[in-house]
Amino acid sequence: MPSPSPSPPSLSPLTLTAYIYILLLYIYIYIYSTPPFYSGYFFLSLLPSSSSFMAPPAQEVQPSSTPINDEQPPFSKSRVTVIGSGNWGSVASKLIASNTLTLPSFHDEVRMWVFEETLPSGEKLTEVINRTNENVKYLPGIKLGRNVVADPDLENAVKDANMLVFVTPHQFMEGICRSLVGKVREDVEAISLIKGMEVKMEGPCMISTLISQQLGLNCCVLMGANIANEIAVEKFSEATVGYKGNREIAEKWVQLFNTPYFMVTAVQDVEGVELCGTLKNVVAIAAGFVDGLEMGNNTKAAIMRIGLREMKAFSKLLFSSVKDSTFFESCGVADLITTCLGGRNRKVAEAFAKNGGKRSFDELEAEMLRGQKLQGVSTAKELYEVLSHRGWLELFPLFATVHEICIGRLPPSAIVEHFGRKPKFTLPI
Ligand SMILES: NC(=O)c1ccc[n+]([C@@H]2O[C@H](COP(=O)([O-])OP(=O)(O)OC[C@H]3O[C@@H](n4cnc5c(N)ncnc54)[C@H](O)[C@@H]3O)[C@@H](O)[C@H]2O)c1
Ligand SMILES: *[C@@H]1O[C@H](CO)[C@@H](O)[C@H](O)[C@H]1NC(C)=O
Ligand SMILES: *[C@@H]1O[C@H](CO)[C@@H](O)[C@H](O)[C@H]1NC(C)=O
Repeated sequence: MPSPSPSPPSLSPLTLTAYIYILLLYIYIYIYSTPPFYSGYFFLSLLPSSSSFMAPPAQEVQPSSTPINDEQPPFSKSRVTVIGSGNWGSVASKLIASNTLTLPSFHDEVRMWVFEETLPSGEKLTEVINRTNENVKYLPGIKLGRNVVADPDLENAVKDANMLVFVTPHQFMEGICRSLVGKVREDVEAISLIKGMEVKMEGPCMISTLISQQLGLNCCVLMGANIANEIAVEKFSEATVGYKGNREIAEKWVQLFNTPYFMVTAVQDVEGVELCGTLKNVVAIAAGFVDGLEMGNNTKAAIMRIGLREMKAFSKLLFSSVKDSTFFESCGVADLITTCLGGRNRKVAEAFAKNGGKRSFDELEAEMLRGQKLQGVSTAKELYEVLSHRGWLELFPLFATVHEICIGRLPPSAIVEHFGRKPKFTLPI
């Protein structure tokens, strides 16, 4: 018979439970009082990155009815207004609103100018956003944060703000800037999240330039591999802030946008960052054609590579200050990849090619995007004007061909034909 094993000094179940509770309490207090561990940020910061600087982590704090900021010593806090409330505009407001609640240098409230619409229910979009805290049309199912206030009146929305975030489709910016002249604060700083450009007689005008010239203010940009719906559900991504000279301002924008799931880096190359964000939409149209024609992954990779090369060459021809390293930031190669894999420009271009070019982009946009706007087609047209005006069409066959396919002058299959015919073309840069 096996002898019974010696029993340990007996503990009553009650004492044992008490010990376990005390132990758990110690572990809990330890974890939550050790700064680098209270968010996932610590681990993300271990990832290799070329960041010049990063903002401190944003703590996860639920909106409270008593504004915590009011207990801080008196110094002037920044007030943020977001101009635009589409898919990306709404997500940008959500990111910003989570930070203004916790950072003492910002007012809690984030004002969001909304281009007013009447919904099928008969209600105004601003009223529904204010009541439900959701942009039911452009970002359904996502809470923006209780400190986001929708405002249909542009002038009223900007009058107190000293930080303006511009995020509308680019075709509306001329009109918006015109109505803002003389209506913004003297000390206001701006940032543009808009991908696109305006073409004038004198040449191409980037949106940040349009804003800074028309309103007489300094304008940074934020671009990156940022498909709005993925960031809305807090999946990790990165972005790049481009700035001209003032690093402190850039740092302030990084602080405003950076969260544990949205890692922002600043680089001193505003033109490079903005041109990346703008031009990649044209490459995405080309990638969509390749998908629609079922040409396969090698072809798509080739189109992305040739596109990136043309993006870089064009940017450097326009602005000699553009840096090579910018194309390796999130705004460069990463944005190009995500847009050619998952973006709306790719999707609509795929449908265009599948229909053999017989249904126009306008028709497909209206049918497939439900009020959201395509950027790549209009950018391709603007780009084509610049290229032909400067005699550069031969140097940029991919950019030129995309436009000629979009307007029906060439069939979708032309997207690869040029390169087969003229294998020896070279770019100067
Ligand atoms: N959606 C994305 O994933 C994404 C990501 C990065 C950057 N961007 C860029 O952000 C910018 C804004 O895109 P979005 O996705 O927020 O917009 P969107 O295409 O989702 O929505 C269109 C917006 O335009 C507004 N609008 C319609 N008519 C108007 C008018 N006459 N005047 C002013 N506004 C009008 C609508 O109210 C709506 O807010 C674009 O430049 C885009 O390239 C978008
Ligand atoms: C939105 O909410 C703000 C603040 O609560 C309020 O002042 C404003 O009148 C509301 N606007 C609309 C259109 O509901
Ligand atoms: C590209 O590769 C993916 C993953 O292997 C595959 O699912 C897809 O079908 C490929 N595309 C084409 C057009 O062959």
